[in-house]
Amino acid sequence: MLSKKIEKALNGQINAEIYSSYMYLSMSAWFEQAGLAGLATWMQQQTQEEMFHAMKMFNFVNERGSRVILGAIDKPPTDWQSALDVFKDTLAHEQKVTSLINDLTNLALDERDHATNIFLQWFISEQVEEEAGVGAIVDKLKLIGKDSSGLFALDQELGQRVFTPPAK
Ligand code: FEO
Repeated sequence: MLSKKIEKALNGQINAEIYSSYMYLSMSAWFEQAGLAGLATWMQQQTQEEMFHAMKMFNFVNERGSRVILGAIDKPPTDWQSALDVFKDTLAHEQKVTSLINDLTNLALDERDHATNIFLQWFISEQVEEEAGVGAIVDKLKLIGKDSSGLFALDQELGQRVFTPPAK
């Protein structure tokens, strides 16, 4: 069983992962109306990936004999100035999530909860990948600038993304 502190913190992180999923869905909607269907698809895959993160935590809390309590999900932003603006927000958001995961891991260490600490290692590695992937897209969008053919090519490329849940 989890300590009450860890249980509360993991419930908070479930909420943060579902919020991430919801925010990326809002970004997908923005890309749809901007005529960037590939980037809209990329964001929908991201939405699924975040829901996978939330479910991984949901299942862990249950497995440990503790209680999942779902709360309200905040309203996500709905408007951006450009594709670069969206991905800059995405990067800032992922950096914030990384710090939440680090805080959670520190709490697990303080509480001497080794199982939760080991569980969180997967998320620590995942955040490295997420920040690197999104950072690379931000760099490409900066290079593209106002070149619409470059943006079209990137839209085509990123629209190929398919999220496949990891086996474990
Ligand atoms: Fe669940 Fe994008 O971190």
